[in-house]
Amino acid sequence: MLSVGDGGEFQQALHGALRSHHVPFRAHAMADLAAWTDAEVKGMAAVMCGYTDPPRMTALARLLANHPVFADARFEYASGLDAEHVVFRSLDEYGDTWFVSPVLLESPSPYDLYEESLTKFEQKCGLRDYLDLYQWLKTVVENDIPGDVAEFGSYKGHSGYLIARTLGALGSAKRLYMFDTFESFPVEPLGVDHFWSETHEVDFEDVRTKLAPFSNVQLVKGDFTETLASTATGPLALAYIDCDSYRATRFLFDALLPDGISAGGLLICEDYGHPALLGNRAAVHESLDGRPGLLRFFSQFSGLYITVKLT
Ligand SMILES: C[S@@+](CC[C@H](N)C(=O)[O-])C[C@H]1O[C@@H](n2cnc3c(N)ncnc32)[C@H](O)[C@@H]1O
Repeated sequence: MLSVGDGGEFQQALHGALRSHHVPFRAHAMADLAAWTDAEVKGMAAVMCGYTDPPRMTALARLLANHPVFADARFEYASGLDAEHVVFRSLDEYGDTWFVSPVLLESPSPYDLYEESLTKFEQKCGLRDYLDLYQWLKTVVENDIPGDVAEFGSYKGHSGYLIARTLGALGSAKRLYMFDTFESFPVEPLGVDHFWSETHEVDFEDVRTKLAPFSNVQLVKGDFTETLASTATGPLALAYIDCDSYRATRFLFDALLPDGISAGGLLICEDYGHPALLGNRAAVHESLDGRPGLLRFFSQFSGLYITVKLT
């Protein structure tokens, strides 16, 4: 086992746990790894992250994902957002204040649409995600942003159903492409994503039946790193990305930018704010940092990361 960190409290606790289970390990700082070759890595079962702060965790994930010998090594980590939480609470003047949201002015009510979705689907798309997503869908429809909508990572169909219902409620004729294996998570070779492999089992017929009432919905079955090129979506008005992994997120940004998204169109990353979705966060920054012509915003309310392609 390789433990990477700065010898801090969390890493010490990690070492204590490894010792108590008689697991042999070596400890190194991140800077040591860049030049490592096969010889140093030989026999190593996994890399354990001793950092819990997002900047160093993300930097380590990026380093390993692109490393010639570490890319496939299993990468284990635990995010500790406690420090950020304490600072936020001490500075936040609003506490439990509630704000008047534009969704309260909508008819039918997004709350009703969401409640209805729960009569048909297990809750997978959170209410906060949906309330943000609703507003972006409305913005895209009202501003006549050209192109259709695509979801990358549909699982059992909950968020796809909400998008389809919302487009209908907004009177939009846009199509919705739902991309997923509709079987289970693809086998992920990269260490940072490996633990997702073959999770998320889905009954495709069930999804198909539940989405059948929507004539504007097309289910695209298979690994979308293979199916996207042969699916004629045209430049999209909105891409809703909820596919969890570094590999798939990197692929999508490379495939969709710049020509796969219309001017004024959106890429919305569901996974960004999730403490356990480190690979996704690393991929977002690798793909977008320093890229001109994008307006980017993180919603502290939902955890969605929103990117607007300006022209
Ligand atoms: C978190 S779930 C999506 C949840 C869904 N958006 C919802 O809220 O109801 C992630 C899904 O992405 C799928 N996925 C991940 N990578 C994929 C890829 N490369 N091709 C196709 N599907 C993928 C997984 O199989 C899984 O079903």
